[in-house]
Amino acid sequence: MDKIRVTGGRRLEGEVTISGAKNAALPILLSSLLTDGVNTYTNVPQLKDIETTLLLLDQLGATVSVEGERVSVNAGGLDKFEAPYDLVRKMRASVLVLGPLLARLKRARVSLPGGCAIGARPINIHLKGLAQMGAAVQLHHGYVEIEAERLKGADVYLDIPTVTGTENLMMAASLAEGDTTLRNAAREPEIVALADTLNQMGAEIRGAGTAVVEIRGVSELRPASVSVIPDRIECGTFMVAAALTGGRVTLVNCEPEHLGALTDKLIQAGVMIEIQGKSLTVAATGPITSTDVQTQPYPGFPTDMQAQFMVLMSIADGMSVITENIFENRFIHVSELKRMGADIQVSGNTAVVKGVSRLSAAPVMASDLRASASLILAGLVAEGATVVNRVYHLDRGYQQIEKKFASLGASIERIAE
Ligand code: EPU
Repeated sequence: MDKIRVTGGRRLEGEVTISGAKNAALPILLSSLLTDGVNTYTNVPQLKDIETTLLLLDQLGATVSVEGERVSVNAGGLDKFEAPYDLVRKMRASVLVLGPLLARLKRARVSLPGGCAIGARPINIHLKGLAQMGAAVQLHHGYVEIEAERLKGADVYLDIPTVTGTENLMMAASLAEGDTTLRNAAREPEIVALADTLNQMGAEIRGAGTAVVEIRGVSELRPASVSVIPDRIECGTFMVAAALTGGRVTLVNCEPEHLGALTDKLIQAGVMIEIQGKSLTVAATGPITSTDVQTQPYPGFPTDMQAQFMVLMSIADGMSVITENIFENRFIHVSELKRMGADIQVSGNTAVVKGVSRLSAAPVMASDLRASASLILAGLVAEGATVVNRVYHLDRGYQQIEKKFASLGASIERIAE
């Protein structure tokens, strides 16, 4: 398995182009299952999770073709309704086939994802919504088996504004009979991107991006041609990197509007941020000030930026309190950061971070995608050479992260094994 070695101490300077958003591309690619014909997607990031999604589409009978960041999918040949254990265990987002398969083939069989490093992550809310729309849901041998002759519109209240749950239900409801209302829906930009895609396919969805999404079912959808929105978490990760290293970095092809909560916190911490249309410059000249953060569903501070922000706080002036409200076990990076000299105490879902004057390099182990990114960030400012093991987590969600950091002047390399 590859490793990444990063030697700390370089200021990052220059320009980086942000790739398409993983978490927008995944549901959009899978929405191709709702229709016959060729869907064309551009700005698709080149990531392991995208490869897994394309493999899943292929296994279901779709025809997939890839040319760099342009992908086309024709699900005219869709003839299977199963997402097997081997794929779901690699990528939980495979559960996003539930809605489209049920809508199009009237049945779906999907391996129930187990817990993962960051939490138990059940899909009960997805299943409850589909059941309210008339689907029969059964669990057999670790698989969810779900059937519905024709889904019917329903009024669905989501106990938690689950992102993939909202996406699954929007896709299912698009081809259901009648009107569906999703209440307490997730409001992430990725939800809006999926709704825009579905509407381009002929769906009738209103309110995406608010807590109430209304979907009028239609009898069929047509193919779409869509450019994937920029990855706000990749962008945020580079924003924190610029701040950490006292650098000046311009992020190009991003959507500053999607980064409001992070931008606000960075400004509070003493970082300079300038927005120019679809690009954003981050510069840090003075000391970083400790700032408290609570993760929340969008538009709150994203859980996917918590680990990276914690690294910044670990070298800030003062003490910050970081509260993780989305996932019950998303502090796994803390023990690795402590090995690098960070002063962090965790109690329940709260981490108290006392800024130290410097971090020191250590061999560290990546446990999940965003935790892995945080270890690279820590390596950028630590004294010495940090080796991050189990890099495959990073490759799931960051396109050529080491190349992008190297282009900004970081001393970073991949050690292939
Ligand atoms: N939850 C339930 N029941 C459900 C669904 C969710 O209890 O049926 C709970 C989860 O256990 C969690 C909370 O609700 O505590 C929120 O989870 P959500 O369902 O919103 O997360 P997700 O849809 O599984 C997506 C992203 C994650 C991101 C979260 C939160 C995708 C493919 N994944 O996951 O991205 O952290 O929303 O914003 O969109 C990542 O990219 O590194 C990543 C983990």
